[in-house]
Amino acid sequence: MKTFDEITQIVSSELDKINWTKEPRGLYEPIGYVLSMGGKRIRPALALMACNLFSDDVTPAIQSALGLEVFHNFTLLHDDIMDRADVRRGRPTVHKKWNDNTAILSGDVMQIASYQLVANTPAKYLKPVLDLFSKTAAEICEGQQYDVDFENRDEVKAEEYLEMIRLKTAVLLGCALKTGAWIGGAGEEDAQNLYDFGINIGLAFQLKDDLLDVYGDEATFGKKIGGDILCNKKTFMLIHALELAKGSDAEELQKWLKISDENLSEAKIEAVTSLFNKLGVKAICEDKMQFFYTKAIANLENVTVLDNKKHELRKLADKLMSRND
Ligand code: IPE
Ligand code: IPE
Ligand code: MG
Ligand code: MG
Ligand code: MG
Repeated sequence: MKTFDEITQIVSSELDKINWTKEPRGLYEPIGYVLSMGGKRIRPALALMACNLFSDDVTPAIQSALGLEVFHNFTLLHDDIMDRADVRRGRPTVHKKWNDNTAILSGDVMQIASYQLVANTPAKYLKPVLDLFSKTAAEICEGQQYDVDFENRDEVKAEEYLEMIRLKTAVLLGCALKTGAWIGGAGEEDAQNLYDFGINIGLAFQLKDDLLDVYGDEATFGKKIGGDILCNKKTFMLIHALELAKGSDAEELQKWLKISDENLSEAKIEAVTSLFNKLGVKAICEDKMQFFYTKAIANLENVTVLDNKKHELRKLADKLMSRND
């Protein structure tokens, strides 16, 4: 069995082999830029680790794994425009370093490149892999649309939020695991249990991302702290804060939600964070994370390979829960 570190080694060396030094530079340079500035590479890692559960040779899954990482990075280019985010992985976002049009078109060609990579899946698995990839890609768009719709909605239910993050984030993790499992030769039931593992770990992963967006360290997280607060993102924490705040707290929270003056950005982040602290919504978010983590581990238990083979995936799940980046 390969360790997570060995797997990410394979991912980065294979990713480095893709040539982005093509013309026109304005189209391809931002791709080389975003792919070279790091990232945890968890989607391709999950694909190769799932493959490795059923096959010693992970080579047949590499191209599709790379496709998933390129696809993920494409979503980041567009997401950062939508979220008005200036910093990612500790560096200026593509639309900041260049402009919106660049982030849109380089993103578009990345999406095409991701399909070209996934299309290199061994013929035996190509049809189901492509079908799942296309379904997943459309679901991510749906999730992203809900995410921005919710910014302007006064009331969003916790269930709606969870469905939104399932779509925008969790399905790609599930897709990575199922794709890798299929290519490794897994049976349908094991592939589905790994997909479910990905969904639950993905839900916990996005809850953690929302938490770090408020409570993380800017240098380690690589994104600007408070970005979600400035966009009025209906995160699990804000949804619960809206529900729990009474009297003057409720009035204050409502007041800040109406303020979008850039001169008041720091004051807004500080005030909303204080309300979150007072209302104890961080702990509510952490409890929910734990809930999905436990479900994920149960899904993994159901996969019918020797228990010690699952060790690396369990370790990765733990790492994602306690991460700061
Ligand atoms: C960021 O994903 C987008 C979310 C789904 C929260 P990652 O946290 O995996 O980003 P990188 O690839 O490691 O930078
Ligand atoms: C990311 O959600 C979902 C996708 C990119 C599809 P976020 O908007 O929370 O991700 P970050 O925080 O910008 O990485
Ligand atoms: Mg977003
Ligand atoms: Mg974002
Ligand atoms: Mg986020």
